[in-house]
Amino acid sequence: MELPFAESYRIKMVETIRKSTREEREKWIKEAKHNLFNLNSDQVFIDLLTDSGTGAMSDRQWSEMMLGDESYAGASSYFKLKNAIQEITGFPYYLPTHQGRAAENVLFSVLVKAGHIVPGNSHFDTTKGHIEYRKAHAVDCTINEAFDTTLEHPFKGNVDPLKLEKILEKSGDQIPFIIMTLTCNSSGGQPVSMENLKMVRHYADKYNKMVIFDSARIAENAYFIKKREAGYQDKSIREICLEMFSYADAMTMSCKKDAIVNIGGFIGMRDPDLFRQASVFTIMFEGYITYGGMSGRDMNAVAQGLYEGTEFNYLESRIKQVEYLGQRLMDFGIPVQQPIGGHAVFIDAKRFLPQVPREEYIAQTLAVQLYIESGVRGVEIGTLLADRCPISRENRYPDLELLRLAIPRRVYTNNHMDVVAVALKNVFDRRDEIKRGLKIVKEAPIMRHFTVELDVI
Ligand code: F0G
Repeated sequence: MELPFAESYRIKMVETIRKSTREEREKWIKEAKHNLFNLNSDQVFIDLLTDSGTGAMSDRQWSEMMLGDESYAGASSYFKLKNAIQEITGFPYYLPTHQGRAAENVLFSVLVKAGHIVPGNSHFDTTKGHIEYRKAHAVDCTINEAFDTTLEHPFKGNVDPLKLEKILEKSGDQIPFIIMTLTCNSSGGQPVSMENLKMVRHYADKYNKMVIFDSARIAENAYFIKKREAGYQDKSIREICLEMFSYADAMTMSCKKDAIVNIGGFIGMRDPDLFRQASVFTIMFEGYITYGGMSGRDMNAVAQGLYEGTEFNYLESRIKQVEYLGQRLMDFGIPVQQPIGGHAVFIDAKRFLPQVPREEYIAQTLAVQLYIESGVRGVEIGTLLADRCPISRENRYPDLELLRLAIPRRVYTNNHMDVVAVALKNVFDRRDEIKRGLKIVKEAPIMRHFTVELDVI
């Protein structure tokens, strides 16, 4: 008999989590103005709000924390991270930042100007925010298949070459670079194929543009290439990562994902000139160039995390757990984005609650219902997140209204996944009783989803 699958690690330290009653949760969610970001963490039983900064560091990472060099300039921790970045990405220049959006802020301060157009595959919200804040525009060139959750496609993060070339032809002068998000969070943690990255490089060269990778979940992307793309089965995750990065000119990384740390980020670059220009903004916004927004111990933990996050056995444990939750939900007939992505299961809220009008924030309504049912916290990836059009100030209604259940790395067991699956099934069984959604009471002018206040209708 073939041995069943099991995680490639064991647990050395545990943290108690708190269960609650339905009555408590009904009170708390009201006090939180129906915004799950406003809940205290001890009001949450299983926290699937994000996989960002919520992972469990390893014994080796904690050991590295003790070895951190906190010198202001030229710390050994800076060089330790430099070596790890060079080994895993191939980029010779790097600037540390405190997290992914800080890397975007620094790099885009050099590259993005008012009136620019930045094509890519469903830009993440902070990426889009940093583009729009500079009065530039993000243009989504993702393949149409990504917007139909029922379609099976191995690489739903791919860019459509026709869409990409059309925008390059039409607006070439205003385009500073093409950005590829790996994996593509907004379309469901969906990977991009190597073939597609080569195609993007081809068009970038044809039109003389840079290619930038948003590399938050690059190792998960590499895992999918190994599993799904012909010719990569026998390559290691690190070999695949190096090939992927060979098609990019620069990268940003939120290390809070695939480097399995609680905080940290960096920019990787090939061009010394770009490095020099970006250094100015690093010093202004983040800190001196050899620590950016990180302490020495953080840089050490990132370096170690980059190695661990690109190990096949770890990645297999990780992605199989996400798949396990997705499969359980599918067995209950719950509509999810297919195939299951790398870091999260995305529930298709429009198909789950077809009777709730889109003006009443369908995915947020579902997120609130799941919380009340079980104390499980997910996050809306829908109209609240899509925000208003910066010009018309009207709501932007995305093609997909998703409830994302993001799984922290090395944190929960499959027993927790079972609780999540059954909780959502219970909501699914009573879905016809959920007739109305939510209305906005208060919102911020940009990135409103973090602080929005809502009420039931
Ligand atoms: N790019 C992607 C693809 C991301 O998913 C994130 C963050 C960022 C950039 C920004 O990085 O948070 O370190 O500043 N995603 C988190 C999430 C917040 O929940 O998906 P950051």
